[in-house]
Amino acid sequence: MAQYSRISGSVGLITLKNPPVNALSAAVRQGIVDTVEKALCDPQVKSVVICGQDGVFCGGADVKEFEKSMSGPPLIPMIHSIECATKPMVAAIEGSALGGGLELALGCHYRIAHSKARLGLPEVTLGLLPAAGGSQRLPRLIGVPAALDLITTGRHVTAAEALQLGIVDQVTDHKTVDAAVKFALSVAGKPLDARRISTYPCPVVTDLDALFEDVMQKVRQSARGAIAPIACVQAVRAAATLPYTRGMEREKELMATLFTSGQARALQYNFFAQRAVGKWRMPSGARWDTSTPRPVHKVAVIGLGTMGRGIAVALAQAGLPVVTVEAQEKQLMEAKRVMSDMLKRGAKRRGVAPPLDKISYSSNIQDLADVDLVIEAVFEDMDLKKKVFLQLSAVCKPGTLLCTNTSGLDVDQLASQTRNPELVVGMHFFAPAHVMKLLEVVYGPRSSPQAVATAMQLGKKMGKISVAVGNCRGFVGNRMLKLYTEQASFLLEEGATPDLVDRAIEEFGFPMGVFRMSDLSGLDIGWRVRKEMKLAVPGQSARIREGRRYSPLGDLLCEQGRFGQKTGRGWYRYNKPGDRVAHSDPWLHHFLEEYRAQHGLVARRIDQQEILERCLYPMINEGFRILQDGIAAGPEDIDVIYVFGYGWPRHCGGPMFYASMVGLEKVLERLEHYYQAHPDVPYLQPCSLLRRLVAIGSPPVQKWREVIKNLHSQL
Ligand code: NAI
Repeated sequence: MAQYSRISGSVGLITLKNPPVNALSAAVRQGIVDTVEKALCDPQVKSVVICGQDGVFCGGADVKEFEKSMSGPPLIPMIHSIECATKPMVAAIEGSALGGGLELALGCHYRIAHSKARLGLPEVTLGLLPAAGGSQRLPRLIGVPAALDLITTGRHVTAAEALQLGIVDQVTDHKTVDAAVKFALSVAGKPLDARRISTYPCPVVTDLDALFEDVMQKVRQSARGAIAPIACVQAVRAAATLPYTRGMEREKELMATLFTSGQARALQYNFFAQRAVGKWRMPSGARWDTSTPRPVHKVAVIGLGTMGRGIAVALAQAGLPVVTVEAQEKQLMEAKRVMSDMLKRGAKRRGVAPPLDKISYSSNIQDLADVDLVIEAVFEDMDLKKKVFLQLSAVCKPGTLLCTNTSGLDVDQLASQTRNPELVVGMHFFAPAHVMKLLEVVYGPRSSPQAVATAMQLGKKMGKISVAVGNCRGFVGNRMLKLYTEQASFLLEEGATPDLVDRAIEEFGFPMGVFRMSDLSGLDIGWRVRKEMKLAVPGQSARIREGRRYSPLGDLLCEQGRFGQKTGRGWYRYNKPGDRVAHSDPWLHHFLEEYRAQHGLVARRIDQQEILERCLYPMINEGFRILQDGIAAGPEDIDVIYVFGYGWPRHCGGPMFYASMVGLEKVLERLEHYYQAHPDVPYLQPCSLLRRLVAIGSPPVQKWREVIKNLHSQL
């Protein structure tokens, strides 16, 4: 796990070996302890280089070991003994030095990095803090403000930035180990007292209290209920105000609190869930590792509205040539201008040339004859989409994958328009598509595993987190979301206000409450869909439709032209159309009062707990139904969709993980309670998978797949 050799006569070389990222497992830590001792005892050795095999220094702690009880040598004394060593210790950083990996490097006396290496302390993203001295050494090395930035955000820095900050001593474009060995030879025998970071005083900050107050406020605002970023600030404060050993004690205390918190468990679950969704499987048994994707060299996007623009930009940024087709001339011209700007902005951020020549613009669908894959993003209108698919099927070469970005229409109906329905899948991106990480890949009953594999691979190439899901109205994300927004409207009918509901949701950790979100995306979108479904009928305000409770509030606002931010009025009031700052609107409160009076509803006081339960539990219940129906393969799929597509706070894991944290029994009991109180809302009835899980003792979320498998095999 750590190999020792002697090179260039007097340099001891320790190579960490634990593929794929040389994580610091118990065996690796033991290997380091043993090899360091060997190097220090070897009289021929004058200096030591620590590197990692296969071009990666070290990806940090072995997250898999977090669940087990600690074994092997602990990290802190190991790093401390490296720092105390009497021979120069040089870290040769290739690939990445993250978390414990960077802490190990900070224990060394010198750090040499390859120009392509990335460094960081991302513990905060797992609900933790850098607790092997990272929170104490980094501020001493690079100063408090820079350390606060890195530790509270977990962001990775390039080798160039690391050099500028003073984290590394040298950056090389050549072989890192060779450069480190040369460096080690040059510093052999030199005094080391000035190289031990733990002995440095923390650089003085003029107004420490003001700095920490300011940072704490910022962190509280952006962390939205997450405790790890706050603990990170407290740990850095300890570095700035206490001697090293006392700071280490504080680091340990803070870590102990985080380590046992539900938030760390949720974040670690989510970390593994992101990896689990890549290992997709379809109900037919087809899977990620037995399905070969088709080659995709050239792609097309049809429809350059909000979504098409973002999708085409993301494809070009992934290096793919994209042909775009837009029916309206004016829209085409505008899209060209907007997309060029998007590409330029993106390129500037990434320090590369804008891939403007990757995108070609056309108004003629015939130009799509030679592409390997098309993503359709025309209006959400089934008849129009069917027409487009019929045309695409005639125009495109055989074997072209035809994908739709529909938010929830039946993918199979579109497939039936084509010669090769097995080559049709949904690729459901989220707005803005060049920014949002999530992609739902929707397979219909006839989609081939190869088509799914191709869409999943393309998503990966675009830097998306792709989740394969089955075909049903709204797929996974929007199917669950519908109940959330509907419950929010019911709460208004019963006495709540948009502000009250949004505040509860935002305090829970969503970046935006349900009504603020609705104003941002536009109330008219849902209204159009409801009108098409004949659910919304202008002028009608009945509260029971199709035999169940219905809230016409959104429709009534749309009838008044209140579409949200774009019209300057929606659930809130805006200073002008397009403005983003929502103000509570007395008109709306009066409107709600009149509405309640008209329907004989008596407003009651609704507390935060009811708001959360009413909005979140029906969604969770629908999540169980989705699992039961086999639309999602496991709870991880739903949770990843919600965290990356809908702003579910990551430190709560996702809706299904959250349910397991709250306790399935409690979720079941509350759903039963609300179903009794609202029997005209059928989806409040707890689903049988939830009942089943409670009946067998509420197993942990990681075991649900087995229960679902058994449930399906019994059907
Ligand atoms: P949009 O209304 O902004 O743009 C649609 C574009 O398609 C327009 O530019 C229109 O001129 C063009 N178009 C219509 N018929 C065409 C044809 N036959 N050939 C070429 N172009 C044609 O719509 P948006 O919001 O971009 O939505 C597109 C699709 O993406 C819809 O299916 C929608 O449900 C879905 N979607 C939308 C999201 C959103 O937040 N806006 C999120 C995820 C999916």
